[in-house]
Amino acid sequence: MAYLPTMTDARLADLAARLPALTLRTDAADLEHYGRDWTRRWTPAPLAIALPSNADEVVAIVRWAREHRVAIVPSGGRTGLSGGAVAANGEIVVSFERMNKVLAFDAADRTLTVQPGLPLEALQRAAREHGLIYPVDFAARGSCAIGGNIATNAGGIRVIRYGNTREWIAGLKVVTGTGELLDLNRGLVKNSSGYDLRHLVIGSEGTLGLVVEATVRLTDPPPASNVMVFALPAMDALMQVFEACRRRLVLSAFEFFTDRALRHVVAHGAQDPFAQVSPFYVVTEFDAADEAQQTAALEVFEYCAEQGWVDDGVISQSDAQAAALWRLREGITESLAPHRPYKNDISVRIGAIPAFMREMEALFSREYPHFDVVWFGHIGDGNLHINVVRPAGMADDAFVTQCEHVTAALSDTLARFGGSISAEHGIGLVKKKYLEGTRSAAEIAIMRGIKGVLDPDGLLNPGKVFES
Ligand code: MLT
Ligand code: ZN
Repeated sequence: MAYLPTMTDARLADLAARLPALTLRTDAADLEHYGRDWTRRWTPAPLAIALPSNADEVVAIVRWAREHRVAIVPSGGRTGLSGGAVAANGEIVVSFERMNKVLAFDAADRTLTVQPGLPLEALQRAAREHGLIYPVDFAARGSCAIGGNIATNAGGIRVIRYGNTREWIAGLKVVTGTGELLDLNRGLVKNSSGYDLRHLVIGSEGTLGLVVEATVRLTDPPPASNVMVFALPAMDALMQVFEACRRRLVLSAFEFFTDRALRHVVAHGAQDPFAQVSPFYVVTEFDAADEAQQTAALEVFEYCAEQGWVDDGVISQSDAQAAALWRLREGITESLAPHRPYKNDISVRIGAIPAFMREMEALFSREYPHFDVVWFGHIGDGNLHINVVRPAGMADDAFVTQCEHVTAALSDTLARFGGSISAEHGIGLVKKKYLEGTRSAAEIAIMRGIKGVLDPDGLLNPGKVFES
Protein backbone atom coordinates (compact mmCIF):
# COMPACT_ATOMS: atom_id res chain seq x y z
CA MET A 1 0.00 0.00 0.00
CA ALA A 2 1.41 3.45 -0.90
CA TYR A 3 0.73 6.47 1.26
CA LEU A 4 -0.42 9.67 -0.35
CA PRO A 5 1.28 12.90 0.65
CA THR A 6 -1.49 14.05 3.01
CA MET A 7 0.69 14.77 6.07
CA THR A 8 0.38 18.07 7.82
CA ASP A 9 2.81 20.09 9.91
CA ALA A 10 0.92 18.96 13.01
CA ARG A 11 2.47 15.56 12.47
CA LEU A 12 5.94 17.06 12.39
CA ALA A 13 5.11 19.12 15.48
CA ASP A 14 4.22 15.86 17.22
CA LEU A 15 7.54 14.30 16.15
CA ALA A 16 9.45 17.35 17.37
CA ALA A 17 7.60 17.19 20.69
CA ARG A 18 8.44 13.48 21.11
CA LEU A 19 12.10 13.95 20.14
CA PRO A 20 13.15 17.50 21.08
CA ALA A 21 16.83 16.78 20.27
CA LEU A 22 16.09 15.44 16.77
CA THR A 23 17.17 17.63 13.84
CA LEU A 24 14.26 18.05 11.44
CA ARG A 25 14.60 20.00 8.21
CA THR A 26 11.86 21.24 5.93
CA ASP A 27 13.35 24.03 3.86
CA ALA A 28 13.08 23.66 0.10
CA ALA A 29 16.82 23.22 -0.56
CA ASP A 30 17.04 20.35 1.95
CA LEU A 31 13.90 18.66 0.61
CA GLU A 32 15.46 18.70 -2.84
CA HIS A 33 18.95 17.68 -1.71
CA TYR A 34 17.87 14.74 0.46
CA GLY A 35 14.93 13.69 -1.71
CA ARG A 36 16.94 12.40 -4.64
CA ASP A 37 19.83 10.16 -5.59
CA TRP A 38 22.11 10.12 -8.62
CA THR A 39 19.24 9.12 -10.97
CA ARG A 40 17.83 12.68 -11.23
CA ARG A 41 14.69 11.29 -12.90
CA TRP A 42 12.11 12.07 -10.18
CA THR A 43 11.18 15.39 -8.64
CA PRO A 44 11.98 15.26 -4.94
CA ALA A 45 8.99 16.03 -2.70
CA PRO A 46 9.52 14.65 0.81
CA LEU A 47 7.57 15.95 3.80
CA ALA A 48 10.70 16.50 5.90
CA ILE A 49 14.21 15.28 6.60
CA ALA A 50 15.01 13.72 9.97
CA LEU A 51 18.67 13.38 11.01
CA PRO A 52 18.72 11.03 13.99
CA SER A 53 21.82 10.70 16.19
CA ASN A 54 21.17 7.23 17.61
CA ALA A 55 19.15 4.04 17.26
CA ASP A 56 16.63 5.07 19.93
CA GLU A 57 15.67 8.07 17.83
CA VAL A 58 15.25 5.85 14.77
CA VAL A 59 12.94 3.54 16.74
CA ALA A 60 10.91 6.55 17.87
CA ILE A 61 10.69 7.93 14.31
CA VAL A 62 9.38 4.59 13.01
CA ARG A 63 6.77 4.42 15.80
CA TRP A 64 5.72 7.99 15.06
CA ALA A 65 5.56 7.23 11.32
CA ARG A 66 3.39 4.20 12.02
CA GLU A 67 0.91 6.20 14.08
CA HIS A 68 0.70 8.97 11.52
CA ARG A 69 0.95 6.66 8.50
CA VAL A 70 3.93 8.50 7.07
CA ALA A 71 6.18 6.55 4.68
CA ILE A 72 9.92 6.45 5.40
CA VAL A 73 12.81 6.69 2.92
CA PRO A 74 16.19 5.73 4.43
CA SER A 75 19.06 7.82 3.16
CA GLY A 76 22.86 7.36 3.12
CA GLY A 77 25.17 9.00 0.56
CA ARG A 78 22.39 8.95 -2.11
CA THR A 79 24.86 7.80 -4.76
CA GLY A 80 22.39 5.10 -5.87
CA LEU A 81 21.69 4.66 -9.58
CA SER A 82 18.25 3.02 -9.31
CA GLY A 83 16.12 5.56 -7.45
CA GLY A 84 16.20 3.56 -4.20
CA ALA A 85 16.70 6.71 -2.10
CA VAL A 86 14.23 8.92 -3.99
CA ALA A 87 11.50 10.56 -1.87
CA ALA A 88 8.92 12.01 -4.26
CA ASN A 89 5.65 11.42 -2.37
CA GLY A 90 5.61 13.25 0.94
CA GLU A 91 7.73 10.71 2.83
CA ILE A 92 9.98 11.43 5.79
CA VAL A 93 13.59 10.95 4.75
CA VAL A 94 15.64 9.41 7.55
CA SER A 95 19.18 10.55 6.79
CA PHE A 96 21.97 8.67 8.59
CA GLU A 97 24.43 11.49 7.97
CA ARG A 98 24.91 12.06 11.72
CA MET A 99 25.13 8.37 12.54
CA ASN A 100 28.55 8.13 10.89
CA LYS A 101 30.88 6.88 13.61
CA VAL A 102 33.15 3.90 14.08
CA LEU A 103 31.90 2.43 17.36
CA ALA A 104 34.32 -0.41 18.08
CA PHE A 105 37.20 -2.51 16.77
CA ASP A 106 37.52 -6.13 17.86
CA ALA A 107 41.03 -7.49 17.26
CA ALA A 108 40.15 -11.12 18.01
CA ASP A 109 37.15 -11.14 15.68
CA ARG A 110 38.78 -8.72 13.23
CA THR A 111 35.63 -6.67 12.96
CA LEU A 112 34.66 -3.02 13.05
CA THR A 113 31.27 -2.01 14.39
CA VAL A 114 30.05 1.11 12.63
CA GLN A 115 27.03 3.33 12.17
CA PRO A 116 25.22 3.24 8.80
CA GLY A 117 26.13 6.77 7.71
CA LEU A 118 29.87 6.06 7.73
CA PRO A 119 31.28 6.67 4.22
CA LEU A 120 32.87 3.59 2.64
CA GLU A 121 36.22 5.39 2.35
CA ALA A 122 36.20 6.23 6.08
CA LEU A 123 35.49 2.57 6.86
CA GLN A 124 38.39 1.49 4.64
CA ARG A 125 40.64 4.02 6.40
CA ALA A 126 39.58 2.82 9.85
CA ALA A 127 40.40 -0.78 8.85
CA ARG A 128 43.88 0.26 7.64
CA GLU A 129 44.55 1.99 10.97
CA HIS A 130 44.34 -1.49 12.51
CA GLY A 131 46.61 -3.06 9.86
CA LEU A 132 43.67 -4.71 8.07
CA ILE A 133 41.44 -3.93 5.09
CA TYR A 134 37.74 -3.73 4.31
CA PRO A 135 38.00 -4.95 0.71
CA VAL A 136 34.71 -3.96 -0.93
CA ASP A 137 35.57 -1.00 -3.15
CA PHE A 138 34.21 1.17 -5.95
CA ALA A 139 34.52 4.65 -7.40
CA ALA A 140 31.81 6.25 -5.20
CA ARG A 141 33.80 5.29 -2.05
CA GLY A 142 34.14 8.91 -0.88
CA SER A 143 30.42 9.74 -1.10
CA CYS A 144 28.48 6.51 -0.52
CA ALA A 145 27.70 5.21 2.98
CA ILE A 146 28.01 1.66 4.34
CA GLY A 147 24.25 1.60 5.11
CA GLY A 148 23.49 2.13 1.42
CA ASN A 149 26.12 -0.46 0.45
CA ILE A 150 24.32 -2.97 2.67
CA ALA A 151 20.92 -1.95 1.29
CA THR A 152 22.03 -2.77 -2.28
CA ASN A 153 24.54 -5.52 -1.48
CA ALA A 154 27.02 -3.32 -3.34
CA GLY A 155 29.68 -5.05 -5.45
CA GLY A 156 32.30 -2.97 -7.25
CA ILE A 157 35.75 -3.61 -8.64
CA ARG A 158 37.15 -6.33 -6.35
CA VAL A 159 34.24 -8.78 -6.26
CA ILE A 160 36.29 -11.22 -8.30
CA ARG A 161 38.56 -11.67 -5.27
CA TYR A 162 36.50 -10.66 -2.25
CA GLY A 163 32.82 -11.01 -3.13
CA ASN A 164 30.00 -8.53 -2.54
CA THR A 165 29.12 -6.54 0.61
CA ARG A 166 27.07 -9.51 1.89
CA GLU A 167 30.22 -11.57 2.48
CA TRP A 168 31.58 -8.94 4.90
CA ILE A 169 28.62 -8.31 7.16
CA ALA A 170 28.97 -10.19 10.45
CA GLY A 171 26.10 -8.53 12.29
CA LEU A 172 23.36 -5.97 11.82
CA LYS A 173 21.11 -3.99 14.11
CA VAL A 174 17.91 -3.24 12.27
CA VAL A 175 14.71 -1.35 13.10
CA THR A 176 11.72 -3.04 11.43
CA GLY A 177 8.58 -1.36 10.15
CA THR A 178 6.92 -2.04 13.50
CA GLY A 179 9.65 -0.16 15.35
CA GLU A 180 11.27 -3.30 16.76
CA LEU A 181 15.08 -3.28 17.15
CA LEU A 182 16.61 -6.60 15.98
CA ASP A 183 20.19 -7.61 16.75
CA LEU A 184 21.02 -10.02 13.92
CA ASN A 185 23.87 -12.55 14.09
CA ARG A 186 25.84 -10.47 16.65
CA GLY A 187 29.19 -10.94 14.86
CA LEU A 188 29.14 -14.73 15.06
CA VAL A 189 31.22 -16.70 12.57
CA LYS A 190 29.14 -19.84 13.02
CA ASN A 191 25.43 -19.70 13.72
CA SER A 192 23.13 -22.46 12.51
CA SER A 193 20.15 -21.40 14.56
CA GLY A 194 17.46 -21.04 11.93
CA TYR A 195 16.79 -18.39 9.30
CA ASP A 196 19.54 -15.81 8.90
CA LEU A 197 17.49 -12.60 8.86
CA ARG A 198 20.66 -10.56 8.37
CA HIS A 199 20.85 -11.80 4.79
CA LEU A 200 17.23 -10.84 4.12
CA VAL A 201 18.00 -7.27 5.08
CA ILE A 202 21.18 -7.10 2.96
CA GLY A 203 20.07 -6.12 -0.54
CA SER A 204 16.50 -5.27 0.53
CA GLU A 205 16.94 -1.57 -0.44
CA GLY A 206 15.46 -0.25 2.81
CA THR A 207 12.15 -2.07 2.31
CA LEU A 208 12.43 -4.45 5.28
CA GLY A 209 14.20 -2.45 7.98
CA LEU A 210 16.46 0.47 8.76
CA VAL A 211 20.05 -0.57 9.48
CA VAL A 212 21.23 1.36 12.55
CA GLU A 213 24.51 -0.50 13.18
CA ALA A 214 26.70 -2.93 11.25
CA THR A 215 29.56 -5.18 12.29
CA VAL A 216 31.82 -5.70 9.30
CA ARG A 217 34.58 -8.24 8.86
CA LEU A 218 38.09 -7.18 7.94
CA THR A 219 40.92 -9.13 6.37
CA ASP A 220 44.69 -9.04 5.80
CA PRO A 221 45.99 -6.53 3.28
CA PRO A 222 46.88 -8.21 -0.03
CA PRO A 223 50.51 -8.43 -1.19
CA ALA A 224 51.88 -5.63 -3.40
CA SER A 225 50.01 -5.42 -6.70
CA ASN A 226 50.40 -4.05 -10.22
CA VAL A 227 47.87 -2.85 -12.75
CA MET A 228 47.91 -3.73 -16.45
CA VAL A 229 45.74 -2.29 -19.20
CA PHE A 230 45.38 -4.27 -22.42
CA ALA A 231 44.01 -3.02 -25.72
CA LEU A 232 42.00 -5.74 -27.49
CA PRO A 233 41.05 -6.07 -31.17
CA ALA A 234 37.70 -7.83 -30.65
CA MET A 235 34.96 -8.61 -28.16
CA ASP A 236 35.62 -12.36 -28.30
CA ALA A 237 39.15 -11.77 -27.00
CA LEU A 238 37.84 -10.42 -23.66
CA MET A 239 37.13 -13.78 -22.10
CA GLN A 240 40.18 -15.39 -23.69
CA VAL A 241 42.39 -12.78 -22.03
CA PHE A 242 40.46 -13.28 -18.79
CA GLU A 243 41.12 -17.02 -18.87
CA ALA A 244 44.83 -16.47 -19.59
CA CYS A 245 45.16 -13.95 -16.74
CA ARG A 246 43.24 -16.10 -14.30
CA ARG A 247 45.34 -19.17 -15.04
CA ARG A 248 48.69 -17.49 -14.30
CA LEU A 249 47.99 -14.53 -11.99
CA VAL A 250 46.27 -13.92 -8.66
CA LEU A 251 43.68 -11.34 -9.71
CA SER A 252 42.02 -8.73 -7.56
CA ALA A 253 40.18 -7.03 -10.45
CA PHE A 254 39.35 -7.71 -14.09
CA GLU A 255 37.36 -4.89 -15.69
CA PHE A 256 36.64 -3.82 -19.26
CA PHE A 257 35.58 -0.79 -21.26
CA THR A 258 35.25 0.18 -24.91
CA ASP A 259 36.82 2.84 -27.12
CA ARG A 260 33.70 5.00 -26.61
CA ALA A 261 34.16 4.86 -22.84
CA LEU A 262 37.82 5.77 -23.29
CA ARG A 263 36.85 8.75 -25.41
CA HIS A 264 34.57 10.10 -22.65
CA VAL A 265 37.02 9.54 -19.83
CA VAL A 266 39.89 11.13 -21.78
CA ALA A 267 37.69 14.14 -22.62
CA HIS A 268 37.22 14.35 -18.84
CA GLY A 269 40.94 14.62 -18.16
CA ALA A 270 42.32 11.05 -18.07
CA GLN A 271 45.49 10.18 -19.99
CA ASP A 272 45.19 7.72 -22.90
CA PRO A 273 48.25 5.43 -22.63
CA PHE A 274 47.91 4.05 -26.18
CA ALA A 275 48.98 5.44 -29.53
CA GLN A 276 46.24 3.62 -31.47
CA VAL A 277 42.53 3.13 -30.82
CA SER A 278 41.30 -0.41 -30.12
CA PRO A 279 37.64 -1.39 -29.71
CA PHE A 280 38.05 -2.99 -26.24
CA TYR A 281 40.25 -2.50 -23.20
CA VAL A 282 40.83 -4.46 -20.02
CA VAL A 283 42.13 -3.21 -16.66
CA THR A 284 43.43 -5.95 -14.43
CA GLU A 285 45.02 -5.77 -10.99
CA PHE A 286 47.09 -8.72 -9.77
CA ASP A 287 49.49 -9.70 -7.01
CA ALA A 288 53.04 -8.70 -7.90
CA ALA A 289 54.94 -9.15 -4.67
CA ASP A 290 58.01 -10.81 -6.21
CA GLU A 291 59.86 -11.15 -9.47
CA ALA A 292 58.18 -14.42 -10.36
CA GLN A 293 54.72 -12.81 -10.24
CA GLN A 294 55.91 -9.80 -12.24
CA THR A 295 57.49 -12.05 -14.86
CA ALA A 296 54.28 -14.09 -15.03
CA ALA A 297 52.35 -10.92 -15.88
CA LEU A 298 54.69 -10.11 -18.78
CA GLU A 299 54.44 -13.70 -20.01
CA VAL A 300 50.65 -13.49 -19.95
CA PHE A 301 50.84 -10.34 -22.04
CA GLU A 302 53.24 -11.97 -24.54
CA TYR A 303 51.09 -15.09 -24.77
CA CYS A 304 47.91 -13.04 -25.40
CA ALA A 305 49.73 -10.96 -28.02
CA GLU A 306 50.95 -14.12 -29.81
CA GLN A 307 47.40 -15.45 -29.88
CA GLY A 308 46.22 -12.17 -31.44
CA TRP A 309 44.02 -11.39 -28.41
CA VAL A 310 45.75 -8.12 -27.49
CA ASP A 311 47.07 -5.28 -29.65
CA ASP A 312 48.98 -3.46 -26.96
CA GLY A 313 49.42 -3.24 -23.19
CA VAL A 314 50.85 -1.14 -20.37
CA ILE A 315 51.89 -2.15 -16.88
CA SER A 316 52.14 0.21 -13.91
CA GLN A 317 55.63 0.99 -12.58
CA SER A 318 54.48 3.07 -9.60
CA ASP A 319 51.43 3.76 -7.44
CA ALA A 320 50.85 6.97 -9.38
CA GLN A 321 50.80 5.06 -12.69
CA ALA A 322 48.49 2.43 -11.22
CA ALA A 323 46.11 5.21 -10.13
CA ALA A 324 46.28 6.80 -13.61
CA LEU A 325 45.44 3.45 -15.24
CA TRP A 326 42.59 2.85 -12.80
CA ARG A 327 41.22 6.29 -13.65
CA LEU A 328 40.52 5.06 -17.18
CA ARG A 329 37.93 2.68 -15.74
CA GLU A 330 36.84 4.38 -12.52
CA GLY A 331 36.38 7.79 -14.16
CA ILE A 332 33.79 6.53 -16.68
CA THR A 333 30.66 7.11 -14.56
CA GLU A 334 31.69 10.67 -13.72
CA SER A 335 32.61 11.44 -17.34
CA LEU A 336 29.17 10.27 -18.51
CA ALA A 337 27.16 11.93 -15.72
CA PRO A 338 26.69 15.31 -17.51
CA HIS A 339 24.92 13.41 -20.35
CA ARG A 340 22.46 11.83 -17.87
CA PRO A 341 22.80 8.38 -19.49
CA TYR A 342 20.30 5.54 -19.24
CA LYS A 343 22.09 2.88 -17.21
CA ASN A 344 21.96 -0.87 -17.51
CA ASP A 345 23.53 -2.98 -14.78
CA ILE A 346 23.08 -6.56 -15.91
CA SER A 347 24.68 -9.88 -15.12
CA VAL A 348 24.84 -13.41 -16.44
CA ARG A 349 26.97 -16.37 -15.39
CA ILE A 350 30.59 -15.79 -16.33
CA GLY A 351 30.51 -18.75 -18.73
CA ALA A 352 27.54 -17.22 -20.59
CA ILE A 353 29.26 -13.86 -21.19
CA PRO A 354 30.53 -14.44 -24.78
CA ALA A 355 27.14 -15.59 -26.14
CA PHE A 356 25.27 -12.95 -24.12
CA MET A 357 27.51 -10.13 -25.30
CA ARG A 358 26.99 -11.12 -28.92
CA GLU A 359 23.21 -10.95 -28.42
CA MET A 360 23.54 -7.62 -26.63
CA GLU A 361 25.66 -6.22 -29.43
CA ALA A 362 23.03 -7.23 -32.01
CA LEU A 363 20.20 -5.77 -29.87
CA PHE A 364 21.91 -2.46 -29.18
CA SER A 365 23.12 -1.88 -32.73
CA ARG A 366 19.63 -2.73 -34.07
CA GLU A 367 17.78 -0.52 -31.57
CA TYR A 368 20.24 2.34 -31.15
CA PRO A 369 22.01 2.72 -34.50
CA HIS A 370 22.60 6.45 -33.92
CA PHE A 371 23.07 6.54 -30.15
CA ASP A 372 26.34 6.65 -28.26
CA VAL A 373 26.19 3.32 -26.34
CA VAL A 374 29.03 2.97 -23.84
CA TRP A 375 30.00 -0.48 -22.60
CA PHE A 376 32.09 -1.08 -19.50
CA GLY A 377 31.95 -3.02 -16.28
CA HIS A 378 33.03 -5.91 -14.14
CA ILE A 379 33.34 -8.51 -16.85
CA GLY A 380 35.25 -10.89 -14.57
CA ASP A 381 32.05 -11.09 -12.48
CA GLY A 382 29.72 -11.41 -15.48
CA ASN A 383 28.45 -7.83 -14.84
CA LEU A 384 28.07 -5.36 -17.73
CA HIS A 385 27.21 -1.68 -17.41
CA ILE A 386 25.79 -0.62 -20.77
CA ASN A 387 25.15 3.13 -20.60
CA VAL A 388 23.15 4.84 -23.34
CA VAL A 389 24.12 8.50 -23.69
CA ARG A 390 21.20 10.93 -24.01
CA PRO A 391 21.51 12.70 -27.39
CA ALA A 392 21.90 16.45 -26.92
CA GLY A 393 18.51 18.13 -27.15
CA MET A 394 16.43 14.94 -26.78
CA ALA A 395 13.64 15.37 -24.23
CA ASP A 396 13.86 13.28 -21.05
CA ASP A 397 10.55 11.47 -21.56
CA ALA A 398 11.22 10.50 -25.17
CA PHE A 399 14.71 9.29 -24.28
CA VAL A 400 13.58 7.16 -21.33
CA THR A 401 10.64 5.73 -23.33
CA GLN A 402 12.98 4.64 -26.11
CA CYS A 403 15.47 3.14 -23.64
CA GLU A 404 12.72 1.28 -21.76
CA HIS A 405 11.53 -0.29 -24.98
CA VAL A 406 15.02 -1.79 -25.32
CA THR A 407 15.12 -2.75 -21.62
CA ALA A 408 11.98 -4.85 -22.15
CA ALA A 409 13.79 -6.81 -24.89
CA LEU A 410 16.91 -6.97 -22.73
CA SER A 411 14.87 -8.32 -19.84
CA ASP A 412 13.54 -11.15 -22.06
CA THR A 413 17.08 -12.01 -23.16
CA LEU A 414 18.23 -12.01 -19.54
CA ALA A 415 15.38 -14.37 -18.64
CA ARG A 416 16.57 -16.76 -21.36
CA PHE A 417 20.14 -16.59 -20.06
CA GLY A 418 19.08 -16.88 -16.41
CA GLY A 419 20.69 -13.48 -15.74
CA SER A 420 19.78 -10.47 -13.61
CA ILE A 421 18.41 -7.02 -14.50
CA SER A 422 20.39 -5.62 -11.55
CA ALA A 423 23.80 -7.01 -10.71
CA GLU A 424 24.78 -4.47 -8.07
CA HIS A 425 22.85 -1.18 -8.33
CA GLY A 426 19.52 -2.50 -7.02
CA ILE A 427 16.01 -2.47 -8.47
CA GLY A 428 14.74 0.72 -6.76
CA LEU A 429 12.27 2.56 -8.99
CA VAL A 430 14.27 2.30 -12.19
CA LYS A 431 14.17 -1.45 -12.79
CA LYS A 432 11.04 -2.57 -10.91
CA LYS A 433 9.04 -3.02 -14.13
CA TYR A 434 11.54 -5.67 -15.15
CA LEU A 435 11.79 -7.62 -11.90
CA GLU A 436 9.60 -10.41 -13.33
CA GLY A 437 12.25 -11.13 -15.98
CA THR A 438 14.75 -11.99 -13.25
CA ARG A 439 12.66 -13.38 -10.36
CA SER A 440 9.79 -15.87 -10.71
CA ALA A 441 6.21 -15.03 -9.71
CA ALA A 442 6.58 -17.45 -6.79
CA GLU A 443 9.74 -15.69 -5.58
CA ILE A 444 8.14 -12.26 -5.82
CA ALA A 445 5.09 -13.50 -3.89
CA ILE A 446 7.40 -14.77 -1.12
CA MET A 447 9.28 -11.44 -1.09
CA ARG A 448 5.93 -9.65 -0.66
CA GLY A 449 5.04 -12.00 2.18
CA ILE A 450 8.35 -11.30 3.95
CA LYS A 451 7.78 -7.57 3.52
CA GLY A 452 4.32 -8.00 5.05
CA VAL A 453 5.85 -9.58 8.17
CA LEU A 454 8.65 -7.07 8.74
CA ASP A 455 6.76 -4.01 7.54
CA PRO A 456 3.03 -4.79 7.83
CA ASP A 457 1.94 -1.21 7.15
CA GLY A 458 4.14 -0.82 4.07
CA LEU A 459 5.95 2.17 5.60
CA LEU A 460 9.50 1.37 4.60
CA ASN A 461 10.61 2.72 1.22
CA PRO A 462 7.22 2.00 -0.42
CA GLY A 463 7.16 1.50 -4.18
CA LYS A 464 10.82 0.47 -4.32
CA VAL A 465 11.72 -3.00 -5.70
CA PHE A 466 7.99 -3.85 -6.18
CA GLU A 467 4.56 -2.45 -5.34
CA SER A 468 3.47 -3.98 -2.04
C1 MLT B 1 30.68 1.41 -12.03
O1 MLT B 1 31.04 0.24 -11.90
O2 MLT B 1 31.46 2.28 -12.41
C2 MLT B 1 29.26 1.78 -11.72
O3 MLT B 1 28.70 0.76 -10.94
C3 MLT B 1 28.51 1.80 -13.03
C4 MLT B 1 27.72 2.90 -13.61
O4 MLT B 1 27.92 4.09 -13.37
O5 MLT B 1 26.84 2.56 -14.46
ZN1 ZN C 1 29.74 -1.17 -11.24
